[in-house]
Amino acid sequence: MANRLDLHEDFRWGVSTAAYQIEGAVEEDGRGLSIWDVFGARPGAVKNGDTGRIACDHYHRHAEDIALMRGLGLDGYRFSIAWPRVQPTGAGSVNLAGLDFYDRLVDDLLAAGIAPLPTLFHWDLPQALEEAGGWLARDTAYRFAEYAGLVADRLGDRVPAWITLNEPFIHMVFGYALGIHAPGRTLMLDALPAAHHQLLGHGLAATALRERGGQVMIANNLTPVRPASDGDADTAAAAAYDALHNRLFLDPLLLGRYPDLGAFGVAPDLGGSVRDGDLELIAAAPLDGLGVNYYNPTRIGAPTGPELPFTEAEIEGVPRTAFGWPVVPDGLRELLVGLRQRYGTALPPITITENGCSVEDAPAPDGTVVDQPRIDYLAGHLDALAAAVAEGVDVRGYFTWSLLDNYEWAEGFSQRFGLVHVDFETLRRTPKASYAWYRDTIAAHRAHWAG
Ligand code: FCB
Repeated sequence: MANRLDLHEDFRWGVSTAAYQIEGAVEEDGRGLSIWDVFGARPGAVKNGDTGRIACDHYHRHAEDIALMRGLGLDGYRFSIAWPRVQPTGAGSVNLAGLDFYDRLVDDLLAAGIAPLPTLFHWDLPQALEEAGGWLARDTAYRFAEYAGLVADRLGDRVPAWITLNEPFIHMVFGYALGIHAPGRTLMLDALPAAHHQLLGHGLAATALRERGGQVMIANNLTPVRPASDGDADTAAAAAYDALHNRLFLDPLLLGRYPDLGAFGVAPDLGGSVRDGDLELIAAAPLDGLGVNYYNPTRIGAPTGPELPFTEAEIEGVPRTAFGWPVVPDGLRELLVGLRQRYGTALPPITITENGCSVEDAPAPDGTVVDQPRIDYLAGHLDALAAAVAEGVDVRGYFTWSLLDNYEWAEGFSQRFGLVHVDFETLRRTPKASYAWYRDTIAAHRAHWAG
C-alpha cells in the first residue's frame, strides 16, 4: 500500500486560510465593505448571527500565527487577499494601507522560510461591485484583472505563483443559485453567468499576472461523482451532476470548451454570457498548476422532481465529520486518478489546496485538545494521495484546511476545522493534537528523504 513517506522529495507541505474567515479588522486602514459584511448582517443568514468583524483577529495577530506555522515546519502558506482592502470599491487606485498589510505578511513569511501562495479571490467581493451586478456582470471580470495586476505590481517580486479564484463552483451555487452564502441570490440555473464571468476573470487576471512574471493557478472544489446504482437513470444523473460540479470549471480551462449542459436545458452560451473569443482567452494562459480542494465524494441518483436533472443521495456506512460530511479518503485517489484519465496530458501538476474536516473539539480540563478524528482524516487522505501518485498522478503539494478554527461562512464559528483551537472570546490559540501530528508527519517525510 502506498505510504505518505513515499511522496516526492520536493513535495510541499502547507496550510490554507482565507481572509474573511480569519482577519477581522473589517473597518481598519481604509478597507471597504465586502459582500460578507453585508450578508452576515442579514437576520438569519449566518448561524448565531456570527460575523467576521473580529474572527481570529489575524490582522493583528499574524506574527503569532506565523510562529505557529513555523512550528509546523511548513514549506508554504496559502492565504487570501481581501479585494476590499486593496480597492475598497473594487475599482480605481490602490488603498496603500490595505496592501501594506499583505506586503508585511509576505515579508514575515519569507523571513520564517515559508513560501507565500496567495489567492486573489476567496469570496469577499467588494460590496460596490455587488451593487453593480457582482459576478453576473461581465465588467466584474475586467475589474478582477485590474485588481490582480495592482497586487502583483506590489508583491510580484516576492510571490512566485498566484491562485486566481477559490472554488468558483461553490461561489456560484451557494452565493448565486441557492442564496446560502453571500451575496445571497437565489437564481438557480440563472446563476450560470456567474460561472462564466468568474472564468473570464481568471483568464484576464492570468494574463495580467503572467505579464508580471507570476505563475498562475486556480483552486477548484472537485468531487468524484458516484451514481447511486448502475441503472441508466442514475448513471445519466451522475453524468449531469459531474458536468455541473467538475467539468464546467475544468473543461474550459483545460480543453477550451464548456461541457454539454443539455440535461439542465442550458445552451452552450450559458445564458447568453459567452461571447466570441472568451473561451480562447480562458484557455489561452495554460495553468502552471491546478489547485484541488477535496472534502468528500458525491453520490447522485435520478431526479425526483422537474427542477434539476439529479438528486443527491446519502453515502452510507462511512464516518461523518461534525459538519455531517462523509469521510471517504479513497475518494481523493479516485478523484485524482479520474482527472488524469479524463484530461491526460492537458492536466497540469496538481497541488491539494484544501483538505480537512470539522471536529467538535474543545480543550480538556488540562488544556489539551485531542482531535483524533482529524488525525484519522488527514492520515487517510494523505495515504490516498500517495496511492494516486503511485498510480501516476503528478501531485506536488498538500495544504490542509485549516491552520486555525475560523469563521466557517454560513455556519459562523460552529464548525472547527483548525489544527489550532481558537477561543473566540479570548482569541487564545491552542495547538491541538493534530497540530503535533502534522508537524511530525512533515518531519518524518523530510527525514525519510534525508536519510
Ligand atoms: C471550502 C472553502 C473554505 C472552507 C472549507 C471548509 O469550500 O473554500 O473557505 O470554508 O470549505
